[in-house]
Amino acid sequence: MTEKHIIINEVGPRDGLQNQPKVLSVEQRLSLISALIKANIPEIEIGAFVSPKAVPTMANTSELFTKLPLNSAMFSALIPNMKGFEMAFSAGVPLMSLVVATSNTMNLKNIKMTTDNSVKVSEEVLKVAKTRGANVQAYVATAWACPFEGKIDHDSVFNVTEKLLNAGASSIVVADTIGAADPFAVNQLMNAMAERFDIAQLSCHFHDTRAMGLANVYAAIEAGVRKFDASIAGLGGCPFAPGASGNVATEDIVMMVEQMGYSTGINMAQLIKAADLAIELTGTATGGNAKPWIEKYNLN
Ligand code: COA
Ligand code: ZN
Repeated sequence: MTEKHIIINEVGPRDGLQNQPKVLSVEQRLSLISALIKANIPEIEIGAFVSPKAVPTMANTSELFTKLPLNSAMFSALIPNMKGFEMAFSAGVPLMSLVVATSNTMNLKNIKMTTDNSVKVSEEVLKVAKTRGANVQAYVATAWACPFEGKIDHDSVFNVTEKLLNAGASSIVVADTIGAADPFAVNQLMNAMAERFDIAQLSCHFHDTRAMGLANVYAAIEAGVRKFDASIAGLGGCPFAPGASGNVATEDIVMMVEQMGYSTGINMAQLIKAADLAIELTGTATGGNAKPWIEKYNLN
C-alpha cells in the first residue's frame, strides 16, 4: 500500500440499514452488497450478529453471508459479545468487529454492559479468537462525544484502545457515533493516537449529522489515517444513539480523496448505481453530492 492509497470500508449494509424503518429481506440486502462488490469496494461490513429483538433489520446475517460470493471483498460483521462471535465464526465471516463505547451510558443502552464489562467481554472474545485464528477488530464508539454523557476525554479513548489492542484486536476503528466531532478535534485526537499506536492499525468512522463528515475525513488524513468507514448514499444511524444520522456518503469520500490524488480502486460509475439502489431499497437515503456533479459535468 502506498502513501497515496486510501482504503474504504463500506458500512451501508450494517450501519446504514440497521436503523431503517423498513426491514429489508435477505435478498434485498444481498442485492445492495452485490452492487457494492461490482463497484470494487475492497471491504464491506455486511451485517451484525446481534439480538434480532434489539435490531430486527440485522436478523439472518448468517444466511446472508452464506449467499455472498466468496473472496469478492473483505467481508466483516459486527459482534457485540461471545454469542455474536460464535455465530459469526460458525458462519465463516473472515473479519469480526467488536464494539465498545467509551461511555457507560452509551454502552449500556447499546449492548447492555458497562464499558468495563464490555472491555472484559471483548478481551475474552479476543482470547478465544486467537486460539481459533479468527480475525477480530474493534470499534471504539463515541470517541469524541456521547449523546448522554457529553464530551469524551482523550484518555478514555486511549485506555479502551490500548486494552483492545493488547488483547489482540487486529485494528481499531475510532468512531464518531453521533457526528459530534469537528475537524480540529479529529486532528487532535488522531495525532495523539498516532503517537501512541501504530497508525496503520487505526481507521475512522464519521457520521455526517452536521455536514462535517468530509472535513473530518480530511483532518484524519492529515493526521496520517488512511482507512475510513463510509456508507453508500449516506445511509446510517445508530438505533440507540439519539440524533445519529447517516455516515459520510461513500461516493463523496471517494470523489474527494481521488481528486486529492489518492487511489481507492473503486469504480465511481458502479458506485453511483449502488447509491441509486440504496435509495430505491430504503426510500430514506438522500444520496451524496457526487452524483449530481458527475451527471452535470460528466467528470469523476
Ligand atoms: N446475537 C443474537 N442473539 C443474541 C446475541 C447475539 N450476539 N447475544 C445475546 N442474544 C440473545 C440471547 O440468546 C437471548 O435470547 P432469548 O431471549 O431468546 O433467550 C437474548 O438475546 C438476551 O440475551 P442477553 O445476553 O441477556 O442479552 P441482552 O438482553 O443483555 O442484550 C445484546 C445484549 C448485545 C444481545 C443486545 O443489546 C443487542 O443485540 N444489541 C445490539 C446493539 C447494536 O446492534 N447496536 C448498533 C450497532 S453499534
Ligand atoms: Zn456508525
